[in-house]
Amino acid sequence: MIALNDLARIDRAGLDALRGAYERVIASGWYVLGEEAATFERDFADYCGAAHCVGVANGTDALEIALRTAGILPGDKVVTTANAGMYATIAITACAAEPVFVDVDAVTMCMSVTSLKTALAQRPRAVIVTHLYGRLAAIEELVGVARAAGSVVIEDCPQAHGARLNGKHAGSFGDIGCFSFYPTKNLGALGDGGAIVANEKSFADRARQLRQYGWGRKYHCELPGGRNSRLDEMQAALLNVKLGWLDRQNDARRSVARRYFEGIHNAHIATERRDAASDVVHLYIVRTPHRAQLARHLLDAGVQTDIHYPLPDHRQPMFANRFASTHLPVTEKLADEILTLPCHPALREEEIVHVIDACNRFKP
Ligand SMILES: Cc1ncc(COP(=O)(O)O)c(C=O)c1O
Repeated sequence: MIALNDLARIDRAGLDALRGAYERVIASGWYVLGEEAATFERDFADYCGAAHCVGVANGTDALEIALRTAGILPGDKVVTTANAGMYATIAITACAAEPVFVDVDAVTMCMSVTSLKTALAQRPRAVIVTHLYGRLAAIEELVGVARAAGSVVIEDCPQAHGARLNGKHAGSFGDIGCFSFYPTKNLGALGDGGAIVANEKSFADRARQLRQYGWGRKYHCELPGGRNSRLDEMQAALLNVKLGWLDRQNDARRSVARRYFEGIHNAHIATERRDAASDVVHLYIVRTPHRAQLARHLLDAGVQTDIHYPLPDHRQPMFANRFASTHLPVTEKLADEILTLPCHPALREEEIVHVIDACNRFKP
């Protein structure tokens, strides 16, 4: 079976580097908020072109802490898209804020500028822009429009580490950038991890307090809304190694995507060119009106697929009928047609050829 991911495919040198990192942490006797986390925060901020980075426990915490950092209060409206796996929506509802769902653009599959403009009439306090599948949203335009309306912009970047446009990296366009280092991400830990990046020091300072009980100084809780959400030393040490691999691995993902785009020729499967610098191809998505049949055909051919994501946020059972009158035509159509093919940096030539051939043989 050709799997969507195969995280154990690491070469000898890579394994040695990771082993060296965790042995260093074990020997240090210091496991939470130490040298490794500080090094990672400094290097990841540099990598993103942001002034500050605050490590947290995972990407969902990063989003929730970012919202609290931006001063979002219960009942505040926060704009988000509904096709990105509920993570932003979970963070919004955790703050007792009100999600305002907007549609996505049919080409980028990320937030539509037109839909955002309409939603801004509701005077949202914040806008969460997700860079989905590795591709930057129309971020410069979205930031311009949101800021002009007085909204804070939070970039949801767990699928876009290293995506860049006009010399800037994902996470550095808006006010706050949020990252996950879940193992399958382009920059993945060997467990959970996350980070917030920001240029404004006051945002970073607040996030730093909120990730540790709201402490001003030890055992003195100053900020309400604090919690424990820290990037541990073991994950930080592993990320310090893996950050050095990120650009090369993103290039490898782009070349798999290029092979798929050039090799898959089937009138029933729509592919996309995905090799721009603004795209780090976290997931390679194809579209077909015959999705269930294609997934079955690929499974029979030994190719694993998945759907990212099958049920839009406004249709999730937890909301019952709360968003029954919300219609997002592009989001809803995409949810019925998208299928994810295996695309990771360690995919082998013969596996790429096998996936292409299997797609080309598909007849609904
Ligand atoms: C776009 C996006 N946002 C947020 C998250 C949440 O990150 P985590 O799983 O680390 O909480 C994820 C991934 O899981 C994601 O893909």
